[in-house]
Amino acid sequence: MEAERRQVTVLFADMVGFTTFSERSGEEAAFTLMRSLENLMDDAVREQGGVVQGFTGDGIMAVFGAPVAFEDAPLRACRVALSILKKLKAGEADIEAKHGVRPQLRIGLNTGAAVVGKVQRGTDAGITVLGDTVNFASRLQALAEPNAVCISEATHRLVQGMVEASFVGEHLIKGKSEQQKVYRLDAIRQGATRFGAAVSRGLSAFLGRERELEALEQAFVQARSGLRVVDVVAEPGMGKSRLLHEFRQRMDKSVFVLSGSCSPDAQQTAFFPFIEVVRGSFGVSFGEAEKDVTQKLKMGLTVLGLHSARNLGLLLHLLGLNAPDGALTGLDGVLIGLRTRELLQQLLEARCRLSPVFMMIEDLHWIDSASEEVLGKIIEGDAKLRLLLLTTRRPEYLLPWLDRPVVTNLLLEPLAVGHIRRLVQARFGAEVLPEPLLRQVADKAEGNPLFAEETVSYLIERGVIRAGADFDHSAAGAALPGSLQTLLTARVDRLQPKDRALLQAASVIGRQFDPDLLAAVIGETEVDPRLAASLEPWRSSDMRGSTARNGSGARVSWNAGRSRSLPLRWPTRSHGWPGP
Ligand SMILES: Nc1ncnc2c1ncn2[C@@H]1O[C@H](COP(=O)(O)OP(=O)(O)OP(=O)(O)O)[C@@H](O)[C@H]1O
Ligand SMILES: [Mg+2]
Repeated sequence: MEAERRQVTVLFADMVGFTTFSERSGEEAAFTLMRSLENLMDDAVREQGGVVQGFTGDGIMAVFGAPVAFEDAPLRACRVALSILKKLKAGEADIEAKHGVRPQLRIGLNTGAAVVGKVQRGTDAGITVLGDTVNFASRLQALAEPNAVCISEATHRLVQGMVEASFVGEHLIKGKSEQQKVYRLDAIRQGATRFGAAVSRGLSAFLGRERELEALEQAFVQARSGLRVVDVVAEPGMGKSRLLHEFRQRMDKSVFVLSGSCSPDAQQTAFFPFIEVVRGSFGVSFGEAEKDVTQKLKMGLTVLGLHSARNLGLLLHLLGLNAPDGALTGLDGVLIGLRTRELLQQLLEARCRLSPVFMMIEDLHWIDSASEEVLGKIIEGDAKLRLLLLTTRRPEYLLPWLDRPVVTNLLLEPLAVGHIRRLVQARFGAEVLPEPLLRQVADKAEGNPLFAEETVSYLIERGVIRAGADFDHSAAGAALPGSLQTLLTARVDRLQPKDRALLQAASVIGRQFDPDLLAAVIGETEVDPRLAASLEPWRSSDMRGSTARNGSGARVSWNAGRSRSLPLRWPTRSHGWPGP
């Protein structure tokens, strides 16, 4: 069995009073009831890409983040927990009619490192997850009120700002020597993003990026007379969202701004970022009454000269509301998609005729295909459109329009060391920090502001920085916050198996190595063209950057089966990188 240590989020859900029900109604009835509950829970877990590790007799245990990591695994697990309770409520009457009870569930969630064993590669059939993280999730489940979800502090930290949760006290939990903070998960905040959560917590001072702001300003001036697209590219955490935020803050308040984000769990949702764009454009907020929404859409469409029963129907349908009777008659799913795409384009064109528009679409690496088509049509369409379109993406995702003349590529380089040091100082809230610590954190971050911020928060929370100028060198060196662990693991999981093997081999050697040595480690006698070819994907992506950062002290376990933890490292191009 292959095993590795990685960060996962574990969900336990148990039926309240199962034993009593079983005693009263008999084992057979209990088994049938449990089957229907398990099906319901299993569906909810799968919808979010989780894996059910096992049915515990009166509940389930599910895992998020293995065998394939998602950077938003903790949030996915939270969605599943609430979705299970919602599905249970919706099916309650049916279950009662069949089984004579209204079952209730307790759910517990925890995030942390665990040993993940895969019996069969590529399928979820044989996954086994073991360790304290699992036991703790199970204890949290037992603490939860009926039909409620308890989450650990570790999970809470990773989803903070993206969910509504209430602190329910500190509890002594078996297996832990200290009292543990526990939260009740109440709801998921609609449309919340990691950056949005950072904004609501309060951003630290914006540093550098003058050249980039200038480029955006210039593109905006040009967009007054015709379409400009700026493709902002950088690896996670490098500051794409922050740059857009700052640019927007500096913009004249009279400018018409539209924005939308793609999301890792909405890649199958047609027009996902445009749902937000349409809401913003018509001033529709979440949870607004259907009749008010209809009224706003009608008025907006009329102003733009696009009002018709069908267009209104298409927009209501896009927002997940009911189209008026007859509005979409004769249109099947495919045609609705086609007409919606045309309408979105017409809406934008009409809006740009009124005044120049600034539209931001974030995180194109998660775009759904319908939205990609809309953007493609806009970019290939009328060059006179008074639109500045700003998009962000991570480097590994390419788009068909990137080389069009209207498109400017803006690659965000790592922040200067001086800026990272200022960021670290600001985060610690101390003007005078021990120089070695400052250096250590700045080295680790390698110009990535998110890495710097998260490392500082991690060190503060763990009490690594003690009173005065004292700090724990080795703890600071080994710090790898959970939020960064999921980011890194998710990226490594996207590699081809042979590339992963090579990366693993490289990690054994260290940060600097000769290609011949790497060849020897993977069992080749010399660097052959195959080896050079397998390095190619990393050469064009930014994989080197992120793994190298991870290598500066951080440890990711690769093969717990060999009970050894290997530092994951990757050389920078200047160090022994094979020549072109
Ligand atoms: N120039 C900067 N000065 C100060 N802080 C910054 C700067 N750029 C980014 N940050 C901070 O770093 C964190 C990460 O930035 P941001 O969310 O913009 O990254 P991103 O590139 O959008 O990442 P992702 O690909 O994950 O969306 C944020 O808290 C942000 O405020
Ligand atoms: Mg972002």
